[in-house]
Amino acid sequence: MDKVLVVGGAGYIGSHCCKALAASGREVVVFDNLSTGHEDLCLWAPLVKGDVCDKAAVSQLFEDHQFSAVFHFAAKSLVGESAAKPAFYWNTNVSGTMNLLDAMVHHSVPNIIFSSTAAVYGEPDRPLIDETQTLAPINTYGRTKVACEQMIRSYAEAHQLGYVCPRYFNAAGADADLETGEDHSPETHVIPILLEAARGIRGKFSIFGDDYATSDGTAVRDYIHVTDLANAHVAALDHLVLGGESVAVNLGTSQGASVKELIEVARTTTGKTIPTEVAPRRAGDPAQLVADATKAQTLFNWKPTNSTLEQIIDDAWRWHLKRF
Ligand SMILES: NC(=O)c1ccc[n+]([C@@H]2O[C@H](COP(=O)([O-])OP(=O)(O)OC[C@H]3O[C@@H](n4cnc5c(N)ncnc54)[C@H](O)[C@@H]3O)[C@@H](O)[C@H]2O)c1
Repeated sequence: MDKVLVVGGAGYIGSHCCKALAASGREVVVFDNLSTGHEDLCLWAPLVKGDVCDKAAVSQLFEDHQFSAVFHFAAKSLVGESAAKPAFYWNTNVSGTMNLLDAMVHHSVPNIIFSSTAAVYGEPDRPLIDETQTLAPINTYGRTKVACEQMIRSYAEAHQLGYVCPRYFNAAGADADLETGEDHSPETHVIPILLEAARGIRGKFSIFGDDYATSDGTAVRDYIHVTDLANAHVAALDHLVLGGESVAVNLGTSQGASVKELIEVARTTTGKTIPTEVAPRRAGDPAQLVADATKAQTLFNWKPTNSTLEQIIDDAWRWHLKRF
């Protein structure tokens, strides 16, 4: 049986990916330092506790197992923190990725799927973003992800690695069986924050700007169900195994939803009023960030099937009630 390594598999997207990989018949091993992940979400694989920045620990992992592919989710990903702690971000995200690539080359592991982000595009100049959009990150987090993508390309050229760098738009929702879901602390993602406001765990939900040039004035984003993301990762590996080209691709739904639309669906789903307030726009928040995800759909023969706002918020709400 194929054995795959999921680095950061105790985290939000990584744990959903472990479930999808196990369902596809792969044996999975998780490597995670549990800095933001959770041991109880490692249900589909043994957990090897370790830090991707620890080169010796990474080498030992590859000595102990012969992997056929690496999925690399482990990263620091808070934009504000990345501004305050650049060394921490460059070390974890970039040096950590280099440690993995070195071990892959040394042990002849052929394929890597690396978690990238829409933050590589910065503030795009078009409403629907395809992969030809210039990479122009506006924060340290985004810069480290661009650097990782470029490093992966260099290693691929020199050592014949196959790679896919999926650039996620807004990952959201939770496993429909509620076996895993989102559990970040502090929580920075809009849907869990909205649900916390619905439960009264936090005060009013802040709408950052209601005077954007969008249909209702609030910012528009592309929300993709985490299960669809996970399935796309399995499809990306299948693509590489069949000899498909190495690529960076957007993973989104190609559909935008505004903050006001989120609030309305959340009110209906939860049956709660959800108090809101309008706050000033945040620096670096574009009016609209929506993927043109045609390339991933075509190359991987994949499409999102769980990503209606209703399903995303229903699954996230049920997870919230179970977990918190
Ligand atoms: N959540 C999103 O909407 C989103 C959007 C775009 C990109 N991404 C990217 O997707 C990936 C996963 O994001 P997530 O939301 O699941 O985050 P997460 O924090 O839930 O998961 C990251 C996992 O990596 C582990 N980790 C962190 N540093 C590590 C280290 N040095 N060594 C070993 N393990 C380490 C954490 O413990 C955690 O389990 C990240 O690379 C992130 O940049 C996420």
